[in-house]
Amino acid sequence: GNTATGTAHGKLILAGEHAVVYGQPAIALPFDHVKIETAVIQKQGPLSIDCRFYKGALDKAPERLHGIRACVKEILRTLKKPAENLAIKLESTIPIGRGLGSSAAVAVAIVRGLYAFFEKQLTKMELERFVQIAENFAHGNPSGIDMMAVISNDPIWFEKGKAARPLPFSLPFYLVVADSGRVHNTAMAVGSIREKSGSDPKTVESAINRLGEIVHEAGRALIEKDGLHLGRLFNEAHAQLSVLGVSDEGLNALCAAARSAGALGAKLTGAGRGGCIISLAESRKKALAVAQALQNAGAAQVWQFSLEG
Ligand code: PMV
Repeated sequence: GNTATGTAHGKLILAGEHAVVYGQPAIALPFDHVKIETAVIQKQGPLSIDCRFYKGALDKAPERLHGIRACVKEILRTLKKPAENLAIKLESTIPIGRGLGSSAAVAVAIVRGLYAFFEKQLTKMELERFVQIAENFAHGNPSGIDMMAVISNDPIWFEKGKAARPLPFSLPFYLVVADSGRVHNTAMAVGSIREKSGSDPKTVESAINRLGEIVHEAGRALIEKDGLHLGRLFNEAHAQLSVLGVSDEGLNALCAAARSAGALGAKLTGAGRGGCIISLAESRKKALAVAQALQNAGAAQVWQFSLEG
């Protein structure tokens, strides 16, 4: 047709960020309170893009769009379509650089939009291949967890290099997510741990191993509907991530505010040093109190939802 759309939701890492880069498992959830919508429109002229920070020819786009450019070109090459007379327009409610999966979601929405535009069937394998191209530019050497969680409609159990496993659960508790409002840099946070593992290998190894155990325990807590245990695991994961050096004062303050307001636990989510925190609350009433406390503590945005699936 003359126009088509593609959408993708955000993601949250419940546990296992960073350790997942070293082969430990991680648990991630689709986060559909935020999403990207793409419109692909037939339009005379060069292949162009219209997004939050750039509007114009894709060939002249700034560096942060080079991954998207490579991804789009590979799609058009695969579909044997010319790289012109198309306008890609993005609308997003996913804040950039907060660990909510914005970069993966942009790529997923664009792939889906282009396949819908050309009325082609898209396999999961093709989708993953195209998104990986964009993600490699955005993150250097990503574990793949962002992409998998953004593609999935279920929570997932993820290990690097393996197929993501759906991990459906239903927990009668609430998750409260707060955005610090500060952009983080995933590649830099990942790199800082890599550096630390050179200078202080014992500390890094023991934190990574413990984070892996926490993910296994969290998986059991989800199945056993043990919110108290899961909350304690959030706190411990945050402490281990702090040892690795990827928390900061702002994230610690948000976690402390959530706990003071009655959260069962709180931790940073994603790469850290900016971005978001997640906290667990045992009732809707508690979740509202935690959300209010996070807002008072200066969070840029707060979301809350039931984990009852
Ligand atoms: O993009 P973020 O902030 O959600 O971080 C991705 C998770 C990391 O484990 C920190 C990096 C990775 O590639 O897995």
